[in-house]
Amino acid sequence: MQTGDGFFRPVSRPSRDLGVLLARTLAAQGQLRVLDLMAGCGIRCLRYGLEAGAVEVWANDADADRLPLLRANLAALPSTTATQATVRTAQHLLAELALQRHHYELVDLDAFGCPTGLLAPALEAVSLGGVLYVASTDGRSATGHDREAAVRRFGAAARAHPASWELALRLQLGAIAQAAWALGRGVRPLFSFSEGRTFRTAVRLERVLAPGEERQLGLLAHCHGCGDQQVQSLLQLGRWQGCACAGGSPLAVSGPLWIGALQDCSCLASMAAAAQESPATLSLAGARLLARLKADPGLQARCWPTALIGRQLGQGPPPLGRLVEALRAAGYSASPSGVMLAQVRSDAPWAVILEIGRDLA
Ligand SMILES: C[S@@+](CC[C@H](N)C(=O)[O-])C[C@H]1O[C@@H](n2cnc3c(N)ncnc32)[C@H](O)[C@@H]1O
Ligand SMILES: [Zn+2]
Repeated sequence: MQTGDGFFRPVSRPSRDLGVLLARTLAAQGQLRVLDLMAGCGIRCLRYGLEAGAVEVWANDADADRLPLLRANLAALPSTTATQATVRTAQHLLAELALQRHHYELVDLDAFGCPTGLLAPALEAVSLGGVLYVASTDGRSATGHDREAAVRRFGAAARAHPASWELALRLQLGAIAQAAWALGRGVRPLFSFSEGRTFRTAVRLERVLAPGEERQLGLLAHCHGCGDQQVQSLLQLGRWQGCACAGGSPLAVSGPLWIGALQDCSCLASMAAAAQESPATLSLAGARLLARLKADPGLQARCWPTALIGRQLGQGPPPLGRLVEALRAAGYSASPSGVMLAQVRSDAPWAVILEIGRDLA
């Protein structure tokens, strides 16, 4: 494997590990054909072929300087794997594939910047039941730091929020869902994560929408005064509840965004089982990431850093594990966030979270 002098980043390995494990679960269900739209040096295609058993890999990159490297790296694949290396923009290639009606079980879109404009054509290249694995490096607009760009790219409001990486992932998922729905298809998020720089999400394309799938698009409100958060589905949009500020602080509302589950725990369990069969696939960082995501389906969009809970109470942060236990014992759903460290996800009223947090101090 030659990495060349292009865009290869060793630290992105956990995202490649998860992609390979996902590809293995797809290969276990039938033939696996992979389209890597922004391949860089081609490491993903090589791994999808060697470690996931893809029968076909297509490595594409817009940069013509990548082509010799792509060809050299793909040469390491067995002759039973059909390979192709091309130099096109993803836009150009996807337009050609749409005309030819070619579909792939896995489309990898490891983009620079925000890939919103490519979502619909990329989804059209995914076979039914196949997966689109997207990355975006556009952190500013999706985390509320460039509100104009968020309107342009997501058609959504993005406001400063304590679970900012999760907000970005939910906006991205909302955009993917809307692109799929416009094609008459449904979506199921398989996993979503970030390290603060790149926002990655894998989504399965379904033939039709699941019953009530439209309910998963909604708004997330955060009160900068008392820290309370509220979620509403667009389908049942009504008044926002009063918070402890009694109208003293305006709510910062973000969305439309995806308010449903971020992770599919059964898919992550299959990926973990695949990792046990071939332990070399998963780096230590990848294994930690997989374990974290598996423990938090991300069903509730309300998430708080324990430091914020502590600040609100004028004390130190409550211990996360004990806070989760106490919330569950009180009858609420609670889990450590799989997306951001030291955050709690819960459906408990904010007053209850604060009360339990105070008792734990
Ligand atoms: C983040 S890098 C890919 C890294 C690679 N997936 C890996 O895991 O090492 C993004 C790549 O996209 C290519 N690229 C940028 N814009 C593109 C476009 N519109 N169409 C196709 N490739 C593009 C760049 O040349 C670059 O190699
Ligand atoms: Zn408030």
